[in-house]
Amino acid sequence: MIYAEILAGGKGTRMGNTEMPKQFLSIGNKPVIVHTLEMFLLNSRFNKIIIVTPKQWIQHTNDLINKHIPKDAAEKICVCEGGKDRNQSIMNGIKYIESNYGINEDDVIVTHDAVRPFLTHRIIEENIDMALECGATDTVVPAFDTIVESKNGEFITEIPIRDFMYQGQTPQSFNINKLTKLYNSLTEEEKIILTDAAKIFVVKGEKVKLVQGEVFNIKITTQYDLKLANALIKGDKDDK
Ligand code: CTP
Repeated sequence: MIYAEILAGGKGTRMGNTEMPKQFLSIGNKPVIVHTLEMFLLNSRFNKIIIVTPKQWIQHTNDLINKHIPKDAAEKICVCEGGKDRNQSIMNGIKYIESNYGINEDDVIVTHDAVRPFLTHRIIEENIDMALECGATDTVVPAFDTIVESKNGEFITEIPIRDFMYQGQTPQSFNINKLTKLYNSLTEEEKIILTDAAKIFVVKGEKVKLVQGEVFNIKITTQYDLKLANALIKGDKDDK
């Protein structure tokens, strides 16, 4: 089975004071999460699409699905509670899959930030193909700016060679059994430090295949990003 998991379990604190978490704010005429969900619904290879949200937003998410998604398409969507951090949200989605459908050796999951509504069909397809073939993928774009490392925030400790540097986006996609095994092998301390699911594979010496992202596959984090996302949506419409 091929699953999508849309991660909407965060509070969006860097967005500042908003009436609801950023994934539920509107860009164009629809909430961010609906734009993202629609991209996943366009791909018929997904057997189920799991959305994780904070508990108090589950009802609201179901209401949005009823309002924006046709009934037959909505049948493959399930909403469940996220976790304390991003990886715990991913694992809660996997627990939901395990208890409702069981997990087979070849099952893969394409995990994606709800707040990255501009991903493309190509990115999703390559994530599915590479997760099936290699067991783990990360979507990245080459770093355009030089990356400067400073361990104390005062002085430079390293300037890595830019040609080897990439910026991580999502989706990140995994063989579900492999991810679960690796996650369960982490200590509680490691679980707190390893905030990125692909990094769990890297620290355990497992290969993660790169999928080429897009510069416009932005993550909406701040008010500025929200303005940018509105401009991108408007630009799309003007192009048509
Ligand atoms: N996310 C999640 N569960 C969490 C934390 C984050 O599913 N416990 C999701 C967010 O909803 C978002 C994505 O992971 O779609 C990327 O995380 P980020 O941009 O950091 O979102 P927030 O944690 O909501 O933002 P902030 O750090 O500003 O509070």
